[in-house]
Amino acid sequence: MILAPSILTADFLHLGQIIETIDKSEADWLHLDVMDGVFVPNLSFGFPVLKQIAKVAAKPMDAHLMIVEPQKFISQFRDLGVRILTVHYEACAHLHGIILKIKEAGMKAGVALNPHTPVESLTDVVDELDMVLIMSVNPGFGGQKFIPHAVDKVQRMKAMIDQKKLQTLIEVDGGINLETGKWMTDAGAEVLVVGNSIFEAKNPEEMIKKMKTVL
Ligand code: DX5
Ligand code: ZN
Repeated sequence: MILAPSILTADFLHLGQIIETIDKSEADWLHLDVMDGVFVPNLSFGFPVLKQIAKVAAKPMDAHLMIVEPQKFISQFRDLGVRILTVHYEACAHLHGIILKIKEAGMKAGVALNPHTPVESLTDVVDELDMVLIMSVNPGFGGQKFIPHAVDKVQRMKAMIDQKKLQTLIEVDGGINLETGKWMTDAGAEVLVVGNSIFEAKNPEEMIKKMKTVL
C-alpha cells in the first residue's frame, strides 16, 4: 500500500515542519490538493506555495488538480518536479489529449472521478492511465465523511483494470481512516490519500506508521 498524506488540513503556519515530518515518516508520497474556486467551492494554494514545498520535499509529489482547464498548467507542474499529475474527468472536455500531454511532459498521468461519475466512464482511456483516483468525498474540503459507495466503485474499477491486464494504480481520497482505509485496500485500492486522520492525530508520524502497518 502506498500512503500519500494530504497537507490540506495541516497547520500552514508551519508548512516546513509538516513537510519534514512527512519526509522523515514511512509515508510514500506527498499529496498536493490544488483548488481553483471554480471546479470546487474552495481555494487552496497555488504556485508560490507549491514552489516552496517542492524545494524541500523529498517524497514524490502527487498533485491532485481540482481546477478547470488543467491543461494550461501541465508544464508548470512538470517544472516543479511533480511525479504524478491527476486531473478531474469532470473538468476535461478533451481528456484523452490531456492525458497524452501529461505523459509527453514526462509525468505519470492520473484521472480523478467525483462520487457521481461511474468508473465505466474511463473504459476508453484507462489503457493510457498510470492511476485512477476514486473520490470518496465530494472534493473541496478536508475532514469530510467517507461515502461508502466508493468501496463498490473501487471493486468495479479493479475488475476493469484486471480484465484489461493493466498496471493502472487505484488511489482513493477523502475520509480515509484506519477503518475506511481497510475497506478500500480490501476492495483493491493501492494508494491511500489521508489528510485529517494523520494531521488531527496526536502524533502524525505514529499514525502514518500505524496506517502503513495495518492497512
Ligand atoms: C478533498 C481532497 C483530499 C482531502 C483529504 O478535496 O482531495 O485530498 O483533503 O483529506 P481527508 O483525509 O481529511 O478527507
Ligand atoms: Zn486530494
